Amino acid sequence: MLSFLTPKLPSVRILPVSRSLSSRASAILRPLDIPLSGEIAGAYDGSWKGSGDILESVCPSTGEIIARIRTASPSELHETLDKTRDAYKHLRALPAPRRGEILRQIRESIASKREALGALVSLEMGKIRTEGVGEVQEFVDICDSAVGLSRMMNGRVVNSERPGHSILEVPNPLGVVGVISAFNFPVAVYGWNFALSFAAGNATLWKPSPTTPLCAIAVTKLIARVLEANDVPGAAASLVVGGSDIGEAIVQASEVDLVSFTGSEKVGREVGRAVQSRFGKTILELGGNNAAVVMPDADLSLAVPAIGFGAIGTAGQRCTSTRRLYVHRSISDKVLRALSGLYSAISPGDPLESTTLLGPLHSKTAVNTYVTALTSLRASGAEILSGGDDLEPLPAPLATGNYVKPVIAIPRTHDPLKEPWNKELFVPILNVAIFDHLEDAINWNNAVPQGLSSSLWTRDIRNVGKWIGPSGSDAGIVNVNVGTSGAEIGAAFGGNKVHKCLSQSTGWGRESGGDAWKQYVRWSACTINFSDNAPLAQGVNFSI
Ligand code: UN1
Repeated sequence: MLSFLTPKLPSVRILPVSRSLSSRASAILRPLDIPLSGEIAGAYDGSWKGSGDILESVCPSTGEIIARIRTASPSELHETLDKTRDAYKHLRALPAPRRGEILRQIRESIASKREALGALVSLEMGKIRTEGVGEVQEFVDICDSAVGLSRMMNGRVVNSERPGHSILEVPNPLGVVGVISAFNFPVAVYGWNFALSFAAGNATLWKPSPTTPLCAIAVTKLIARVLEANDVPGAAASLVVGGSDIGEAIVQASEVDLVSFTGSEKVGREVGRAVQSRFGKTILELGGNNAAVVMPDADLSLAVPAIGFGAIGTAGQRCTSTRRLYVHRSISDKVLRALSGLYSAISPGDPLESTTLLGPLHSKTAVNTYVTALTSLRASGAEILSGGDDLEPLPAPLATGNYVKPVIAIPRTHDPLKEPWNKELFVPILNVAIFDHLEDAINWNNAVPQGLSSSLWTRDIRNVGKWIGPSGSDAGIVNVNVGTSGAEIGAAFGGNKVHKCLSQSTGWGRESGGDAWKQYVRWSACTINFSDNAPLAQGVNFSI
């Protein structure tokens, strides 16, 4: 039975709860229809449910528990998988422009809550409010793009070698797309996948990061209302909040045709193997360890703030964050002085305040990673140009948040195969090395295992040619006079790597822009005979 015909049973036990939510949290949750007390259902497939373990959403800025969420139990996940499969059958029968029209309404619904959702991202993930709102805008932008695509997801007519024959390449809906997203972009990355997947005629099953469940619940509620108003089964946009057991079950489920995974290289490797072993499709968005290269002719009034945003923005927790800085020797003093000045003007604070430029790290684990990295930089004799000293305690309620100072370090070695250069740490530490020739900087840029984003600062067209060409940066994102982070949705997002001696740590996924939509369909090659004869291809003669 299709889920939209299923009577909605109140399957969630709402328990009385003794906590009182801070006014900063309740003011953000209320307009998004997130209950302020009791346990919140974390699974949706046309109705809300969740009878699995309880998971807590913790505010990184204050340490406050902002909600308790009931995760999906294994049997609920299986029920959701079935319903999502049924929803796909409903969706694939709708004309693509009709799906586009529903997506347009979803776009309107998300846009109407842009500020509220942006504030929730800030509250639950910890990024500053303007970045939270920007992330919601990415969702809106990809919906716009997918609405247009819904009238342009075209196949092709291919010339046949046989008379009276025609070959068509037809993009058909694929099935169920499982989206496993990370904490750092708790709204946008789902949006990239959902919008293209929905326009292509697929049902989507979302497993968000267990540390950002409220963002997922708020977004799913908005989508669910639009689906309901259009008589589309809610399981077209299913949600299962849960831990790694739920993630594993999705990865292994034969009902899930494509798994789009964003996260660590380590888990990505397991996801890739598991999905490949059942010959499913994957989109993998894994490690980033992105470098900015500054040439002597760069416009430093543009380069320095952009490098600052790349390294400090989102507290260094974007896949695209700038982690390595290569500066030409002739301008290195000037660049490092300007950058240190910028760093000294930024101190961490409440991400919800409009003047704050640096929020907390997302978790205590990340704070430990930061402390360990700083200790080993010091132990290896790195020069710490900025940060590294103790942080003044912040006033309550921020005193219990995960705040750190951003760091600029010049390690003793510039060898990209050695630590700290070859590792992606999701913290605001920028490592700097000085180069003499662009070729050296390009070699260092390419020598690490990760290949997501890269950025060159120059006004010289010859440098641009080298950088974007076959011997240039081997990352998936190759920018010029634009920082490593903050890509628009129109630019296909994902990693590359040329160096074959190393393991590739970014994956080859492509999301959002470019031809990414082509991954969300199954291509049918259809040879059609309009003639009264049935000749064989290649002139093969099989007359009986
Ligand atoms: C991510 O860090 O996982 O380019 C996504 C950017 C954003 C998306 C980042 N548009 O930085």
